[in-house]
Amino acid sequence: MKKQLAVFASGTGTNFVAIAKACAAGVIDADVAVMVCDKPGAAVIDRARELGVEAFVFSPREYPSKAAFEAEIVKVLDAKKVDLVCLAGYMRIVGDTLLTAYDGKIINIHPSLLPSFKGAHAVEDAVAYGVKVYGITIHWVNAELDGGKIIAQRAFPYEGSDPAEVHRLGQVIEHQLYVETINKILCEL
Ligand code: GRF
Repeated sequence: MKKQLAVFASGTGTNFVAIAKACAAGVIDADVAVMVCDKPGAAVIDRARELGVEAFVFSPREYPSKAAFEAEIVKVLDAKKVDLVCLAGYMRIVGDTLLTAYDGKIINIHPSLLPSFKGAHAVEDAVAYGVKVYGITIHWVNAELDGGKIIAQRAFPYEGSDPAEVHRLGQVIEHQLYVETINKILCEL
């Protein structure tokens, strides 16, 4: 049986689309078993529907705690026999419930060369700092925000001061690097 991926996203979902299309084309030898989204109404939900990927969409506010909604997510992942969880713009810190259940099986993509510029405004912070070499990092997820061990990084030069342009340049790299890195990890699982 092919390896099963779960992709978590909160927004647009261009990384989700890149991963799902790579799976459908056989570039990644796995299936996206489920897309998990914490924002009802996010664009990524329509992308999942278009690509025929099942979505688990939830409202954190409807649960008494992070542990409670993560317990629901774990049930979904277990039912799908998920081998690897890929966070792709999931704007939430992963809690103990999910980290314990999927220990060593959760990765994230971040739009900076970690450990520089952690957090939700990495690109804007880097531009404000006057950075000349930007980059993308894929790392294992632990309890610390953007803190786990680095798996892959790719840098690119940019001398301007337009965060939108950095996002645009970075996303082209993200889509390639995420597919390549998932493939490498799946070979080792
Ligand atoms: C990406 O820039 C990723 O690095 C960050 O969130 C963004 C998600 O973009 N973690 P998209 O929704 O996949 O287009």
